Amino acid sequence: MTDQRIEDVQACVFDAYGTLLDFNSAVMKCRDEIGDSAERLSDVWRQKQLQYTWLRSLMGTHADFWQVTGEALDFALAATGIDNPDLRTRLMALYRELDTFTEVTDTLTRLKAAGMKTAILSNGSPDMLNAAAAASGIDALLDAVLSVEDVGIYKPDPRVYQLAVDRLDVAAGNICFMSSNGWDAAGAGAFGFRVVWVNRYGQPVEHLPAKPDVILDTLTPLPAILGLASA
Ligand code: LAC
Repeated sequence: MTDQRIEDVQACVFDAYGTLLDFNSAVMKCRDEIGDSAERLSDVWRQKQLQYTWLRSLMGTHADFWQVTGEALDFALAATGIDNPDLRTRLMALYRELDTFTEVTDTLTRLKAAGMKTAILSNGSPDMLNAAAAASGIDALLDAVLSVEDVGIYKPDPRVYQLAVDRLDVAAGNICFMSSNGWDAAGAGAFGFRVVWVNRYGQPVEHLPAKPDVILDTLTPLPAILGLASA
């Protein structure tokens, strides 16, 4: 139980990859075939994917997250000495149907039962986000799936967070944003959202301008933190 509270929240907005969707599940489903380098492959894939988003944003050379994810996978495969085009194809297909973390469906169900607006706000392209949300069944629990493709730049550019304000018609201070990425939590806090950092990976606190309102290990306590009756 927690006695932490965030008041006056009208919409819960979630990061997708690493927060609702377990990006490691793609590599882990091919673990037997990949062998000992599986964890390193998944780790380098994710790190490069994020770095490429920041670098492309700084360079003014946006490409969508599907392309960036594929290019990051190419780097990660090379870094782990794997030359297997068929495996690449399968890993990319698995990225469109990633597992959700275990408590995600139940938490979204409780938020919706309490009348909360819910949305994804993600770097993902609309196509890959909609595919993953449909594959896991969480699409029925979301009012909106918002993609950076509508502004053509990646998180943590403030134009991305503004998308949620505009599309949900809720003021930034009444939006609670959940991310497992400390840097995304900082970006959202600097923008003006209330922020829950879901520190699934046991990371140290980021030394960036905005601090999260609440830090959790999983999403399970979220409805209680928002003071929802059915929580
Ligand atoms: C996303 C990445 C940052 O879903 O996880 O936006």
